Amino acid sequence: MAKELQNNCSRVYFFSTTNVFDGDFSRSHTETDIPIAESDYGKFKIKCENKLKEILDERVVIIRIPAIWGKDSPRWKLINESIKNNKVIDVYSNLVCNNLLDVLLAKQLRFIIEHDLKGTFHLGSADVMTQGQFYEQIISKLTSEKNLLRYRLFQDKVDTCYFRLISNRDDIASTLQSTNQNIISYLLE
Ligand SMILES: NC(=O)c1ccc[n+]([C@@H]2O[C@H](COP(=O)([O-])OP(=O)(O)OC[C@H]3O[C@@H](n4cnc5c(N)ncnc54)[C@H](OP(=O)(O)O)[C@@H]3O)[C@@H](O)[C@H]2O)c1
Repeated sequence: MAKELQNNCSRVYFFSTTNVFDGDFSRSHTETDIPIAESDYGKFKIKCENKLKEILDERVVIIRIPAIWGKDSPRWKLINESIKNNKVIDVYSNLVCNNLLDVLLAKQLRFIIEHDLKGTFHLGSADVMTQGQFYEQIISKLTSEKNLLRYRLFQDKVDTCYFRLISNRDDIASTLQSTNQNIISYLLE
């Protein structure tokens, strides 16, 4: 695709992922950190980012996103299915993650396009919450069943691990920022 677009003026908005940093869970990562991946998926997305930048230069905008949630998303459906079938959901109690809503991502992308913003973007909820806490808040509102979540330690460590994108850019409107709490409230509406 990049080669096809090499000689015209089209722009590519490429959805990348937090997994480009899954080789370093010791901290959250900003747009200026050098990606380091361990998983095949993360390595593949780094290669895509680099190839697109090499060929298209400023004409590719890299948008890194965390777990996407929506009222019709596979993740949300899985929670509801698990409740219905009383099926245990495994979550990590020591893994800090961020999240994003599909509807907010659409608005953020529109903003990036309309304001002609360039470079790499980290989009995701701004507050700190573990994966376990995020699921706990949702599940506690949907069912009285107490044992639906099974807590695990990520990488069998007791230390906190981070699978989280943070941003050092200030050009996305603050009205387009979200917190995990906003996301949970929207999903439960
Ligand atoms: N979902 C998340 O939580 C999440 C998190 C981080 C990053 N991302 C990134 O966001 C992007 C979209 O994710 P998603 O979860 O929406 O994935 P998805 O549900 O698998 O959708 C992928 C889309 O790409 C199309 N596609 C796949 N292979 C293609 C090919 N060879 N040629 C043309 N079109 C192709 C699919 O078309 P068909 O429907 O026709 O198959 C589908 O519309 C991906 O790049 C993913 O890495 C997603």
